[in-house]
Amino acid sequence: MQLNDDEVLRVNNLSISFGGLKAVDNFSLAIRKKEIFGLIGPNGAGKTTVFNCITQFYRPNAGEVIFRTKQGDVVNLVGRKVHTIIRLGLVRTFQNVEIIREISVLDNLLVGAHAEYKTSPLSQILRLPAARREERLMRQKAADILAILGLSELQDVPAGGLSYGVLKKIELARTLISGPVLIILDEPAAGLDDTETLQLSAIIKDLRDRFDCAILLVEHDMRLVMGICDRVCAISFGKFLASGTPEEIQNNPAVQEAYLGEEEKNV
Ligand SMILES: Nc1ncnc2c1ncn2[C@@H]1O[C@H](COP(=O)(O)OP(=O)(O)OP(=O)(O)O)[C@@H](O)[C@H]1O
Ligand SMILES: [Mg+2]
Repeated sequence: MQLNDDEVLRVNNLSISFGGLKAVDNFSLAIRKKEIFGLIGPNGAGKTTVFNCITQFYRPNAGEVIFRTKQGDVVNLVGRKVHTIIRLGLVRTFQNVEIIREISVLDNLLVGAHAEYKTSPLSQILRLPAARREERLMRQKAADILAILGLSELQDVPAGGLSYGVLKKIELARTLISGPVLIILDEPAAGLDDTETLQLSAIIKDLRDRFDCAILLVEHDMRLVMGICDRVCAISFGKFLASGTPEEIQNNPAVQEAYLGEEEKNV
């Protein structure tokens, strides 16, 4: 179980099957500290399944997920509970936005902060001074993050009525509150228009710089991938296809063929 000094995550020989289907097949990947890393591949290639195996929403049949925690330990995540993983410094967003519509934008961020609270649930219920102080600090932190994302004026508004593009930003904001070392984003630009996608590209880069975290993202919008990723890995039919700089991946014949196959399927 090892990580190079400059790495934050290493996925080794990951496999998972659903019935007879090998959704992920002996797949490996390494992410460096503060890197923006893109995972690309045609529909159904296994990208979300890789994310689910890393974050332990799915238990892989084989393989290791070695992670450098924000506490500085190097651990294998396989078999750990989802909520403990957030505490170790790994957070994610979902391909379909997962926001609580009935509560305010700011409260949605505080839901993400739950793992961060140091005071006990009992002292929070009794509203003891330490718990009240902690709550105040968390609210301030949430407000600061919303300000960075340009969402300050919406912080007290119920999330339910807001546009899809704004909800995606709130989901992104929520990942930051727990002080992660790695953020996993599943199709952050899906459903956004060109202007919003361009804006999101700038935001993701800015967040990486401000919060000193690595970002692993799946995205079909190649302008976003090629524009902001330091390195890219391509997956097809659950198998590793290629990895390299955005230019190398764009010019890789095996990658081009994987996407061409998909276009022919869609005709
Ligand atoms: N829980 C599950 N049960 C059965 N099959 C699944 C499950 N999750 C994923 N699969 C299958 O595994 C394969 C990979 O799916 P996955 O969602 O990881 O693809 P993807 O690369 O994220 O695709 P997309 O770009 O469309 O989001 C698909 O064939 C899918 O049907
Ligand atoms: Mg997916």
